[in-house]
Amino acid sequence: MIESLLPPHVRSFDTFEDVPFSSLYPEEAALVRNSVEHRRREFATARHCAHRALAALGVPPAPLLATPRGAPVWPAAVRGSITHATGYRAAVVADASRVAAIGIDAELDRPLPDGVLESIALPLERAQVKRHTALHPGIHWGKLLFSAKECVYKAWFPQTSQELEFEDALIRIDPLAGTFSARLLPPALVSAEPELSVFAGRWTVREGIIVTAIVLDAPPAAHDDRAHGPGLLRAPARSLS
Ligand SMILES: CC(C)(COP(=O)(O)OP(=O)(O)OC[C@H]1O[C@@H](n2cnc3c(N)ncnc32)[C@H](O)[C@@H]1OP(=O)(O)O)[C@@H](O)C(=O)NCCC(=O)NCCS
Repeated sequence: MIESLLPPHVRSFDTFEDVPFSSLYPEEAALVRNSVEHRRREFATARHCAHRALAALGVPPAPLLATPRGAPVWPAAVRGSITHATGYRAAVVADASRVAAIGIDAELDRPLPDGVLESIALPLERAQVKRHTALHPGIHWGKLLFSAKECVYKAWFPQTSQELEFEDALIRIDPLAGTFSARLLPPALVSAEPELSVFAGRWTVREGIIVTAIVLDAPPAAHDDRAHGPGLLRAPARSLS
């Protein structure tokens, strides 16, 4: 499902079925050794998705560990992102010479709990959710807004190692085109690299699940082979999703 949101130069794998916990590398299993069963299942299947996507990119198999904050430690030449929602897991990766940042997020297409919209949405965003809900009532727009914000965070944090509050990004969702934009606001904007101050994303809702994705391409010079040599995608690549 997520592949429909992505450009052709990234690799993805998603699934609605869980894999056995034993499929993890021992170093990965150790990260969730003391977690509850639900967490162990989502972690194992999302790692499986990541390994399938990395294989499609031509990356040799290896454990995918995590930073203390929980972000996956991708190989140096790779950008990527992972998500899981009840019944759905996905991973997206790309060659870092072509892609500067990736964020993906999945959420059940259900209403946000009472009071949450007020705590995550700026006034302009609340008005937008109200408008979209009136005109296109089939989708939980507040949840889609939340997903877009999580998506921005996942694209942002691995590049900056800085936290981002919900009021730090202004999201505009196009209800017909299946796209959204995110613009960072001060004070986050002040500390942002110029290329990390505006993000363009895509969204879809299928099988009762909202999925959002941001793929921020690297500046053209960074994927000019004459300057930097061949990237990972010179290795045999196949799309598995
Ligand atoms: C980390 C966070 C984004 C995860 O989102 P979520 O919707 O709860 O959960 P998802 O299933 O979609 O994603 C979880 C995956 O995100 C990845 N992740 C966790 N922390 C991350 C980080 N700091 N940076 C990038 N990716 C991260 C991990 O791969 C994790 O899965 P894993 O632990 O199995 O490897 C969320 O819990 C959080 O801390 N949000 C607060 C910050 C925020 O969103 N601000 C809004 C800014 S506009």
